Amino acid sequence: KQRFVKSLSLALCLGAAMASPQVLAKTFRVAVGDGAGGTQHELGKAFSEQLKERTGGKHDTQLFLNGQLGDEQATVNDASMGLLDFSILAINNVTPFSPSVGVLTLPYMVHSLDDAVTLTQGEVGQQLVDNTIRDAGVRIVGWAYSGFRVLTNSNRPVSSLEDLDGLKIRVPNNEIMIDTYRAWGINPTPMAWSETFTGLQMGVVDGQDNPYITVSAMKFDEVQKYITNIRYLFSIEPLIMSEAVFQEQPEDVQQAILAAGKAATEHSAQWLAVQEDRIKGELVKSGMEISEPANGEKEWMDKAVSQVWPKYYDLVGGKDKLNQILQSLGRDTL
Ligand code: MLT
Repeated sequence: KQRFVKSLSLALCLGAAMASPQVLAKTFRVAVGDGAGGTQHELGKAFSEQLKERTGGKHDTQLFLNGQLGDEQATVNDASMGLLDFSILAINNVTPFSPSVGVLTLPYMVHSLDDAVTLTQGEVGQQLVDNTIRDAGVRIVGWAYSGFRVLTNSNRPVSSLEDLDGLKIRVPNNEIMIDTYRAWGINPTPMAWSETFTGLQMGVVDGQDNPYITVSAMKFDEVQKYITNIRYLFSIEPLIMSEAVFQEQPEDVQQAILAAGKAATEHSAQWLAVQEDRIKGELVKSGMEISEPANGEKEWMDKAVSQVWPKYYDLVGGKDKLNQILQSLGRDTL
């Protein structure tokens, strides 16, 4: 009799689980490219809390910081194949898989946090979400805002483009960023994010660019001395989800994921506004020196915009599309 009761309860459990898969708790795995204390980490924590709350504790996440689950670009492939649930990474590392998101990497396109929010949370952002599902098999469910990518190096203060001459600068494997440095007169070195700290430490490269908060989260102040406060790229970092895994979820869990992503995105914008100056101050205290770009950055901007933008009109959906985007930001059209 006891055995009968046991198998009956097992059958009931299995039956219930199969009839309503949402009762199965799941901890999603989230790859995070950066270290602790950065905007990616903050977005991941906020998303986890929100998801837990919105699923009555059934769903949670485990964050794997510092590229433990592979380099950022590799995580897009893994998520696309359904081998990884989520990844938080810089948008420039999504562009090779879904070219239209390159619009967010065009130099001097985004002038402020407000511009970043307008682009990602409005109509343009929705189109980028759709394109990324189509092109790369991953769904953007949230955004982290990380601030402008400033240039760091270990050799000398850099203010003008002439000062850049001879420096070996690491860039992500992103054509738009490579072309931007070429417009500035040097040939940069594409290198995976996961190799960048060691590359700087060993002197394979002299410098790189990333936001203040990322420089701090990655401990680059230990291997870099000089910062140039350029504002060519406002770093936007999506939380992407494997579309295959998203489609496996019941409707209520899908809705909870989307709502949690939205709430975490709002948190990210507020967090940046409060933390960026504090972290910049800490980097100075740790010994880094900040230079402003010469002549209000005019030459940096003129060269990058005139030489890089025309090459990418088609990639980002054509000149008309770009004009619509500029209009949505209250900017002059081309
Ligand atoms: C990169 O430079 O490859 C990325 O911006 C790194 C990051 O995700 O912070």
